[in-house]
Amino acid sequence: MKKLDGNLKKNIAVFISGRGSNLKSIVRYSSKKKIIYKVKVIISNKRNAQGLLFAKKQKIKNYYINFTKSKRLGNRVLNILKKNDIKMVCLAGFMKILPAYFIKNYKGKIINIHPSLLPKYKGLNTHARAIKNNEEFSGCTVHYVNNLLDSGKIIIQKKTRITKKDTANSLKQKILKIEHKIYPRTINKVLSNL
Ligand code: GAR
Repeated sequence: MKKLDGNLKKNIAVFISGRGSNLKSIVRYSSKKKIIYKVKVIISNKRNAQGLLFAKKQKIKNYYINFTKSKRLGNRVLNILKKNDIKMVCLAGFMKILPAYFIKNYKGKIINIHPSLLPKYKGLNTHARAIKNNEEFSGCTVHYVNNLLDSGKIIIQKKTRITKKDTANSLKQKILKIEHKIYPRTINKVLSNL
């Protein structure tokens, strides 16, 4: 594969609400030369999101803007994205539904990762619900974002077996590991077709 100079990489923005472990895996992966993107902007809708500390350490532009609250703030974020020539938005533990006008501005260019085998277990507490329902498998899904919760077109899914010993927490850890592997790679693939 061709090596890419940092300046030739496509800019992406990552939206977070919390810990930011997926954000970290995306940033790390993007630093490889052959990877075609770099994380240019990080937006958090939570002031105390741990992921913002990581962003600061990495010296990546980062903003706390609770922008789903008003169109004025949403437009502020859209302006930041435009100014930074952002080609794609990746939600990584961003726990709010994006407003329709926002999605319209980045149609087909916003993706999300969700810790279940969609369309099963949209929303919260996915692992506890999968275990409670005696599912044999769970996993994670990367999908395009539309106006409905965890509902856009699926790009990739990876599954893992739920064992008798699994708790919601052990399953969460197991699936997070898979998320960290597939999300950065999937972003690269999607971007290479944009
Ligand atoms: C991840 O498991 C991600 O799939 C999930 O939140 C976690 C964030 O962890 N996202 C959703 O549930 C979105 N519907 P992180 O902040 O450590 O990346």
